[in-house]
Amino acid sequence: MEDIKLHDKTFEVYIPETEIAEIVQHLAKQINIASISRPLFIAVLNGSFLFAADVMRKITIPNSEISFIKLASYQGTKSTGSVNELIGLSQDLENRNIIILEDIIDTGNTLEKIIELFQNKKIASFKTATLLYKPKAYKKDIPIDFIGKSIPNDFVVGYGLDYDEIGRNLPHIYKLKN
Ligand code: IMP
Ligand code: MG
Repeated sequence: MEDIKLHDKTFEVYIPETEIAEIVQHLAKQINIASISRPLFIAVLNGSFLFAADVMRKITIPNSEISFIKLASYQGTKSTGSVNELIGLSQDLENRNIIILEDIIDTGNTLEKIIELFQNKKIASFKTATLLYKPKAYKKDIPIDFIGKSIPNDFVVGYGLDYDEIGRNLPHIYKLKN
């Protein structure tokens, strides 16, 4: 598979789409067997739009619901540290079992911000599912319940993940080529 160029940088294939499908299937299975009743999945836009669409098709829990929030912390290939809420939650969260769907957890700043959004909402439970996780970059103590794949501290794009807003449409996940 060929390298691709986005803006000024070159990327090489890192996780081909066939492997992504296997990771997503495995993650969905873990969620399905966790016996969470009437879950409300909340996908974090923009990055998780493809992951959320694919994982939801593999969820077999009755009465599952999905909603979306939009947050942003990245500029280029570096986390800015501050996370802004761009689209908030509208529905009633009281007594709901929340499962966050994230494309990638890096420093954990976004996850911490999300947890703040759910404080004082009287939710029943809170779990986090992420397609990718960078354990060496993670700075928080918040447990991550469902992890698709742990990766090194490489910058990745594709399958929803962007480099300055482009590359989200790529079917494979690519990493920065050195
Ligand atoms: P965190 O707040 O540092 O954990 O970063 C989380 C968010 O940063 C993710 O939801 C992504 O949108 C973005 N992000 C983190 N690492 C990468 C990457 O390698 N490529 C593209 N986006 C990333
Ligand atoms: Mg994101």
